[in-house]
Amino acid sequence: MKKVLIATEKPFAPAAVNGIREVLNQAGYQMELLESYTTADEWKKAAGDADAMIIRSDKANADVIGSSLKLKIIVRAGAGYDNIDLEACNRAGVVAMNTPGQNSNAVAELAFGLMLYHVRKGFNGKSGSELRGKKLGIHAYGNVGQFMAQIARGFGMELYACDPFVEKANIIADGLKPLNTAEELYKSCDFVSLHIPANEKTRKSIGYSLLSLMPKGGTLVNTARKEVIDEEGLLKLMEERSDINYLSDLAPDAKEIFEDKYPGRFVFTAKKMGAQTAEANINAGIAAATQIVNFFEKGDTTFQVNK
Ligand code: 3PG
Repeated sequence: MKKVLIATEKPFAPAAVNGIREVLNQAGYQMELLESYTTADEWKKAAGDADAMIIRSDKANADVIGSSLKLKIIVRAGAGYDNIDLEACNRAGVVAMNTPGQNSNAVAELAFGLMLYHVRKGFNGKSGSELRGKKLGIHAYGNVGQFMAQIARGFGMELYACDPFVEKANIIADGLKPLNTAEELYKSCDFVSLHIPANEKTRKSIGYSLLSLMPKGGTLVNTARKEVIDEEGLLKLMEERSDINYLSDLAPDAKEIFEDKYPGRFVFTAKKMGAQTAEANINAGIAAATQIVNFFEKGDTTFQVNK
């Protein structure tokens, strides 16, 4: 009997765990659950005889990948797979997959939640401002970016997008103005929402020179990854311009500096919250379980990311 380990430091909603169990049991597989673990050793111990794993933002390094000699597949129930050591997977002959699109709406809704909370001054009773008529720049027009556009349209925002990997015609068809460069996007927009992945090219790519192009009152919304921000550059700009704001799902490393020096100009979540809804967990968790069954039963590698 195949054993599938769910290793989630940040647990799925119970309904998602039940859904995953149902998919796996129907295929005759056994599910093991390791939630809220505190050390990698706990994870490695539980992984000992697993044929497959489902994870979230859990850091699947070479040690973890090598902890089960039976491991054939690891699925990141979510979009970004920067937390999986793909080289280690390749060396161990393990297929790595993600579940693109499954939690995108939840992330887009959180980005709007952060914006609303910020423009209404944390609902503190004082006069704030509105999103209608403001310019929103979507930096990378993938699954989350497209949900952002849908929601922003309802708010009456003016929409721009920059994504070299998406045909301009598709961006125009969705009612957005495509811009050729990130520089143009940051220069044109009151709010820029980040949806780029974290990889060698993007790490620390959003910094002083780009952000300083933003107009007065410019607000950066980061529900992507904290690693794509050059925090030093961002702090330099926050210091120079008292109009610039930063909203982020997961606080930056320099959180204490923001708290000390820039009150009212940031919103940070306490834990990564973008995909933390029952719906997103159910979508991504069941997709992950189904992909594992399809991989073992049909050799389906559709969502493999370490090809
Ligand atoms: C993703 O890449 O899908 C999101 O960042 C979700 O991450 P999480 O599963 O840790 O909430």
